Amino acid sequence: MATIQIRTPIPGPRSQALMRRRNAAVVEAAYHATPVFVAKADGAVIEDVDGNRLIDFAGGIGCLNVGHRAPAVVEAVRRQLDRFLHTSFNVLPYESYVAVCEKLNAIVPGKGPKKTLLVNSGAEATENAVKIARSYTRRPAIIAFEDAFHGRTYMAMAMTSKTHPYKAGFEPFPSDVYQIPYAYCYRCSYSMKYPSCEVFCAKHLEDTFKRVVAAESVAAVIVEPILGEGGFVTPPPEFFPTLTEICRRHGILVIADEIQSGFARAGAMFACERLGLEPDLVTMAKSLTGGLPMAAVTGRADIMDAPAVGQLGGTFGGNPAACEAALAVLNIIEKENLCARANALGERFRKRAAKWQAQWELVGEVRGLGAMQALELVRSKTTCQPADEETKQVAQYCYEHGLLMITAGSYGNVIRLLMPLVLTDEQMDEAMGVLEAALAHVAEKKPALAVQPV
Ligand SMILES: Cc1ncc(COP(=O)(O)O)c(C=O)c1O
Repeated sequence: MATIQIRTPIPGPRSQALMRRRNAAVVEAAYHATPVFVAKADGAVIEDVDGNRLIDFAGGIGCLNVGHRAPAVVEAVRRQLDRFLHTSFNVLPYESYVAVCEKLNAIVPGKGPKKTLLVNSGAEATENAVKIARSYTRRPAIIAFEDAFHGRTYMAMAMTSKTHPYKAGFEPFPSDVYQIPYAYCYRCSYSMKYPSCEVFCAKHLEDTFKRVVAAESVAAVIVEPILGEGGFVTPPPEFFPTLTEICRRHGILVIADEIQSGFARAGAMFACERLGLEPDLVTMAKSLTGGLPMAAVTGRADIMDAPAVGQLGGTFGGNPAACEAALAVLNIIEKENLCARANALGERFRKRAAKWQAQWELVGEVRGLGAMQALELVRSKTTCQPADEETKQVAQYCYEHGLLMITAGSYGNVIRLLMPLVLTDEQMDEAMGVLEAALAHVAEKKPALAVQPV
């Protein structure tokens, strides 16, 4: 039986009425990818307030690798609700915070003993990673990448690349942040071709030290193992070993931002493991808790302990319910082997997407690792002109036909997959059927498939 069930045109009348209230009461800047209000969610399925059933390929922006309301997560949170909800770890500690740190210390990539700090959001994690790196190295500068996204608070924004909508109008930003090109081979900033380029972009860091900022002034390089908001770009295998070798030689720390790529999405617990990236510090959030706000920084113990007592923390960081949820999530990922599941889903997508790429000029590139897969849409395969308007049309077609989908990319022309990894093969095929119809509709100007209300 089909999962998608459409009862009203989407958005339905209740969603539309709520949107009118929302428009009067909520700031305009808090954007929605879809105009649909949710009533409830389970696994990979959303039911909206009009009774429509949609498949979720957005997962609350990649937070639901274990699915909506995974039973073990709900049960763990429920048990915690009966004990206590908040004391602040900075006032009265509790065991679950320690247990999450122990677990992350054991599974996060990187050699030697590790320690962990828990905070509330991805942006707070990247901010704290910078504080820790500066405190340890006693150096000021941070190098980040073009097309990177590290959050919306001020330091995180300074390290983020995309100007609109993230940065424009919010200047000035904290100083001593420098951006260099990422290994985005489809749109190489140096107009080179892999592999003949021999990862020039990574080697160019040495040049940056001569022309932009002295190596001995740089505390850390912060990098997403796979670009998230920047369009699911996976660097070639030589990129990270080359980059980290240069950083080590100059005493510069490497911070891996695994906020979007972590927790099985890329077919391993962390994308670093698949890309030869050995970080000193790792930032995590999103799918760590299966839907509650919590983030973490884990890294080499000597680095993590550089700030003095009282220099790190916050009122809500490592909330007890979120800690219980995280312990349940980490258990589910291992027990249900979601890394293997991510790879299987990725394969299933790649097979079908290869046909789309062969068939339509619109599909410029199919790329990704594990289930962190994407399509880059272009107006011409020769010029690679970004098809941003067409990408919006694909996403709109999808939600109107029961598939929630979000876009990405500095040019807004990437369709990305962030579905819960617990969806069934049948749901995956059904969702890909909608995406295929959307691409056909936009690429060939085919009429939209009629939505047949049940
Ligand atoms: C790689 C990466 N870093 C940081 C962030 C910021 O996380 P948050 O929105 O929880 O502040 C995000 C969010 O999309 C992200 O994808």
